[in-house]
Amino acid sequence: MQRILVVDDVEVNRELLRCILEDEYAIEMASNGIEAVQKLQKFLDETAAVLLDLQMPIMDGFAVIAELKERGWMHKFPILVISGEYSIEVENRCLELGVSDFIHKPFGNSVVRNRIKNAMELFFTRNQLERKVQEQAEALKEQNEIIQIQTEKLKQEKSFNRLMMEYHSVIMEVETRLKVLNGEFSQEYNRNPFEAIKSRLKSPASIFEKLERKGYPVTLESIRENLTDVAGLRVICSFPDDIYRLAELLTKQDDIIIVREKDYIKNPKPNGYRSLHFILSVPIFLSNEKKYMNAEVQFRTIAMDFWASLEHKLKYKKNVDRADEIVGMLKDCAVSIEALDYQMQEIRNKIDRSRQ
Ligand code: GTP
Ligand code: MG
Repeated sequence: MQRILVVDDVEVNRELLRCILEDEYAIEMASNGIEAVQKLQKFLDETAAVLLDLQMPIMDGFAVIAELKERGWMHKFPILVISGEYSIEVENRCLELGVSDFIHKPFGNSVVRNRIKNAMELFFTRNQLERKVQEQAEALKEQNEIIQIQTEKLKQEKSFNRLMMEYHSVIMEVETRLKVLNGEFSQEYNRNPFEAIKSRLKSPASIFEKLERKGYPVTLESIRENLTDVAGLRVICSFPDDIYRLAELLTKQDDIIIVREKDYIKNPKPNGYRSLHFILSVPIFLSNEKKYMNAEVQFRTIAMDFWASLEHKLKYKKNVDRADEIVGMLKDCAVSIEALDYQMQEIRNKIDRSRQ
């Protein structure tokens, strides 16, 4: 049987509450605050709720709450205030102090029972949830610390820095080849197939996090074998057909190998994401060897890039309000952007034709 402590200086009140509750609970009584604290000390872990009067001689209800706070006992059980004619200010003060509910006089049997039952359920569910959240936060913190330590270790290894240098080199290599194509195009046809290239080397922390997440070993060989996006390039074009033209010109170069191709333009993701992705194996020339390195190259239009940046924000922001609605709005935008991309392309074609 769960134990409930009834604290009230008026004996009739205590007895009334005992009559209402004794079938379901073991009842303890106290006639003032000091007795209440003593009883709680004795039955601390067995107490499931406290019914507390505010106006009592010796030590009143507020003093009891202050004492419970001081001792760190407020999270152990819900407190329900046995209320006389209290003002709104007093009730508010009680709620701010962490009181769960009020039991109003005259006591109605089933109301009292239900209020206590609800307060206990809410209290223990909240406690359980808080405990779970805390446990998860601690596990996450521990995981982050491990990642940081391992990342530091990786960074200190000379061969890791060497590998990063090689990935940086493949970024430069691909960038140069794309710039050469752009230069040739602007000479020959007076236009640029791409507007900008954004490149990034995956950070040591992200490398480690991804290896861990996918269950790969944390070694340099494993990075080379399992991660294809350490070197990343994003090529931003004006028009969809430039994407395919440029991608073809790059990938058909005789020393470039296409490891993987994903065409999210022809087959957009369900969320609306569109881009043309390649994992390319590209040679870099070092002092005494020619080495093939993987690079992830994404081709998108300006509009697709604009969309993807916003959508990325949603993905990495936790607790976004009305996320479903935003997902739907993004999907609509992706559809509009696709139409816009092809309309713009059509306009460009008309201009080109009128020039001839
Ligand atoms: P990752 O392991 O997440 O890199 O994905 P993957 O190996 O399945 O490759 P994929 O070609 O699908 O995605 C590669 C990269 O494209 C991602 O790391 C993102 O930068 C980008 N990307 C893919 N899908 C989306 C998307 O739905 N939204 C946005 N904003 N970016 C995406
Ligand atoms: Mg990636």
